[in-house]
Amino acid sequence: MSAGRALAAAAIATGCLASLPAGAAPDAAALRAGEQAYQRCAGCHSIEINRAGPRHCGLFGRRAGTEPGFEGYSDAMKRSSIVWNERTLDRFLANPAATVPGTAMGYAGIADARERSELIAYLRAATGQGSGCRAGP
Ligand code: HEC
Repeated sequence: MSAGRALAAAAIATGCLASLPAGAAPDAAALRAGEQAYQRCAGCHSIEINRAGPRHCGLFGRRAGTEPGFEGYSDAMKRSSIVWNERTLDRFLANPAATVPGTAMGYAGIADARERSELIAYLRAATGQGSGCRAGP
């Protein structure tokens, strides 16, 4: 995603999060750090295209293992009954293999809580309603 588009997404995210408690909206610097952190995921994921991992457009509120057109889900992920939100993403990204034993996601996780929260804030801005991302078939 271009810097301009990320900043537009940031502006939108700030608007979308206005109903959350004061202080919950991420600032632009955190979103930029989160976009940077997403580079760790980019070998396997993108926002709009299924790669080795499923695309992330529309992630929040989606049930784990249900992105249409992605064939690579493990049974473990499909059966996990996780719904993706800030809390479930934080837990999963801290330690994917412990959170979804048997997951096909070969990634050790992000130990740093702040880095996770920046990444998750970026993901919400870049994949949520109003982000402009497109999850085609
Ligand atoms: C080595 C490749 C790889 C890397 C790196 C990777 N992932 Fe994944 N990811 C996958 C695969 C494969 C799956 C499907 C896992 C399964 O079905 O068990 C997945 C699944 C997911 C899911 C569940 C999506 C859904 O539709 O249910 C999320 C969320 C996710 N990854 C986020 C991330 C984030 C954020 C990062 C970076 C911090 C990351 N992944 C890094 C390969 C990867």
